[in-house]
Amino acid sequence: MAPFMDDSPLPGVKSMQKKLIDDEFDTELLIKELTLEEKSSLLAGKDFWHTTAVPRLRIPSVRLSDGPNGLRGTKFYGSTPSACLPCGTAIGATFDKDLAQRIGHLLADEAKAKGAHVVLGPTINIQRGPLGGRGFESFSEDPLLSGTLAGFYCKGLQERDIIATPKHFVCNDQEHERMAVSSIVTKRALREIYLLPFQIAIKLSSPGAIMTAYNRLNGTHCAERADLLQDILRGEWGWKGLVMSDWFGTYSTSEAVQAGLDLEMPGPTRWRGKALTHAVQSNKVRMSELDERVRAVLDLIKAASASGVPEDAPEEELNRPEDQAFLREVAAKSIVLLKNNDDVLPLKNDKRIAVIGPNAKIATYCGGGSASLNAYRAVTPFEGITAQAKADVDFAQGAYGHQMLPQLGKVLRTVDNQPGFTVRTYNEPSTVKDRKALETKVLNDSNIFFVDYDVPGLQSVWYAESEGIFTPEESGDYDFGLAVCGTAELFIDDNLFISNVKNQRSGTSFLGTGTVEEKARIHLKAGQSYHITLQWGCNKTSTLKRAGTVDFGHGGLRFGGCKHIEPEAAIEAAVKLASTTSQTILFAGLSGEWESEGEDRPNMDLPPHTDDLISRVLDANPNTIVVVQSGTPVTMPWASKAKAIVQAWYGGNETGHAIADVVYGAVNPSGKLPLTFPKKLKDNPTYLNYRSEGGRVLYGEDVYVGYRYYEEMEVEPLFPFGHGLSYTTFELSDLELKPQSNNELVIKCSVHNTGSNDGAETVQIYVAPISPPIRRPVKELKGFTKVPLAAGKKAAAATSIDLVRATSYWEEKEGRWCSAAGEYKVMVGTSSEGKFLEAVVKVQKTTFWNGL
Ligand code: BGC
Repeated sequence: MAPFMDDSPLPGVKSMQKKLIDDEFDTELLIKELTLEEKSSLLAGKDFWHTTAVPRLRIPSVRLSDGPNGLRGTKFYGSTPSACLPCGTAIGATFDKDLAQRIGHLLADEAKAKGAHVVLGPTINIQRGPLGGRGFESFSEDPLLSGTLAGFYCKGLQERDIIATPKHFVCNDQEHERMAVSSIVTKRALREIYLLPFQIAIKLSSPGAIMTAYNRLNGTHCAERADLLQDILRGEWGWKGLVMSDWFGTYSTSEAVQAGLDLEMPGPTRWRGKALTHAVQSNKVRMSELDERVRAVLDLIKAASASGVPEDAPEEELNRPEDQAFLREVAAKSIVLLKNNDDVLPLKNDKRIAVIGPNAKIATYCGGGSASLNAYRAVTPFEGITAQAKADVDFAQGAYGHQMLPQLGKVLRTVDNQPGFTVRTYNEPSTVKDRKALETKVLNDSNIFFVDYDVPGLQSVWYAESEGIFTPEESGDYDFGLAVCGTAELFIDDNLFISNVKNQRSGTSFLGTGTVEEKARIHLKAGQSYHITLQWGCNKTSTLKRAGTVDFGHGGLRFGGCKHIEPEAAIEAAVKLASTTSQTILFAGLSGEWESEGEDRPNMDLPPHTDDLISRVLDANPNTIVVVQSGTPVTMPWASKAKAIVQAWYGGNETGHAIADVVYGAVNPSGKLPLTFPKKLKDNPTYLNYRSEGGRVLYGEDVYVGYRYYEEMEVEPLFPFGHGLSYTTFELSDLELKPQSNNELVIKCSVHNTGSNDGAETVQIYVAPISPPIRRPVKELKGFTKVPLAAGKKAAAATSIDLVRATSYWEEKEGRWCSAAGEYKVMVGTSSEGKFLEAVVKVQKTTFWNGL
């Protein structure tokens, strides 16, 4: 065999030492050379983040990394900091294809810095309802918006030779019992709503990999459905790429291989290796079937080599000034101005301002779970406001918004006075005298997920000790809390203060594998140093039983604490402050604790006391600007009282600066809602069918997802899909439809910035069938174009749509798409509700079609 590695450095790539493979990497030749055992080994990961190498044939291992809003690299524990982009719904709110492509470019550069060849993203599941724990990760409730942005995101990644992995294929639209639940979906809804984003993304960008969903679809796990993985993906759509399982989402040996699942992740394998070799030897799996899966893995390795990222590359920080500027631009462009009566926004930065609220002084920069990462930096709204304010900035907390107590690690110092705390790992419990630490690290993140932790000599049962000094700035009562996957005890000055070892209560921590947070209160004195120690035992030291969750390896430890506040007194102090300032801004919302993998939200409400705080502050100062940070809709019972409401999502590294840019007017907001915001939970289409019940969830709303439902049922939302205001005004006029010979329809209109500020408007194209042969949604988004325009200027906007696709529904009896002859209204507007320019287009003949 020809050598596959070359030790000579290549120019232009920073950490390049050797090529991943050489030009003679020949997939077919390798398939002939590989032994059965080697083939089986190739079809599963080596560890959490790498494929298996075959050194004998110089087949290297490639690195995969989460995705979707940044690259965490290979460690949950003590990871190298990264760029964190705004969350999926925030990116969805930009309605901006070019921006999505540039996001792909940044992610590709970050991937190279982290030595990764494959990005595990974008997430393009659909927010059927507002409660999904991972709703924030996906772009939109609308399949066209979602698929289009995903296509441009993947294109951006792949233009820089990093492989994209749209996920999770398909109908992983809730977290409750995510591995076990069966999504019961009609073929029509599957095609029109849930598969369509994948179909569009594949058409636009041919991503190199796809990740299967954890759940079942109509009874069978997606990772075992040949109809999805072979017939649709590879057959009908002609896609050539690698299908990997979600982490621990492979459930069989032969069935999964036969269904087309190429790679089991993570490793070491549970289902392949010896079991797969045995299945081939006993003719349960044919060698040709095995070879097909091997071919996909080898092709992925070959494609990965184009990135120039060598095998097992070190992880580095990029953090270039231009990336910081770009992150700020994306975050600001994602912000949606929901309401702005009396033009109370933008604020004046030379006037005193009162900053209030639970989200003001914390950087709520990303959602929870595998999408979370350690950002290079994260700017709080308070810091953002302060950086631009030229007059006094006063603050009142008003309420806390946390679910678990804020991470204590951020305010600790080590015994030798460095910021953070020390973590030592051991093979022996703390009762063993003179035990030797395997490793010592200093961290400030006290939500420690040891899931992928490894160190030489680590045994299967192991322990850790954390140690830090807490010196409170104020005297008073302090709450401390301890959540664990494993067992843990928290000591203050060597006195056992909280024990989470016996009688553990199952909770949402650590993707639903950990306990609830056990809490205790103590009076502390300002300026006095308290020694905080934690003794932790890994997952295997716990007897807690957890049904329906993934066994995520070693476990984790989370400890938090903060000064206790009495809600009534805190609200009163905020009300008092608000009544003394003409400019008040209140930051509230959710966080990665409320919106995270492994758990859906129980309701749509803001954290306890927040609504009361907002309502009372608005009474005291009706001009108060309310900024909400959440990835999915929240109820806003005070909405009619507020003059200005801003939806700021989870904005990534530059969250605080981006919000300040918008509220002070340096950036004119242009975001549009990629999701409908209902008035109350009961209004949403999935109200009756959300959690797993009897092992299944019925997608009873069928194709009437999001605005398709609210419009059909005439349920008035709080804010409709596509809505978003600006500091200027726009008018659309002069609609022209120009049918082309190739089914293309060019939709032209004029956009006029009639206000006095530069801004950007999103022209939204909806198609409404006039007399469809079957019941169909009132109208559906079929195109969009973002138009930046200087004040007073007018420009022509042209959007092209494929008329056959834009008029098609899935005809179940035929098993094909159908564009039925007849008339269709083309509605051009700036939101799904409001004024439209309208024209009618005629489809002359009925067309059935299949494919991409
Ligand atoms: C998530 C995936 C993620 C994987 C690796 C799983 O729990 O569902 O989206 O890519 O973990 O972190």
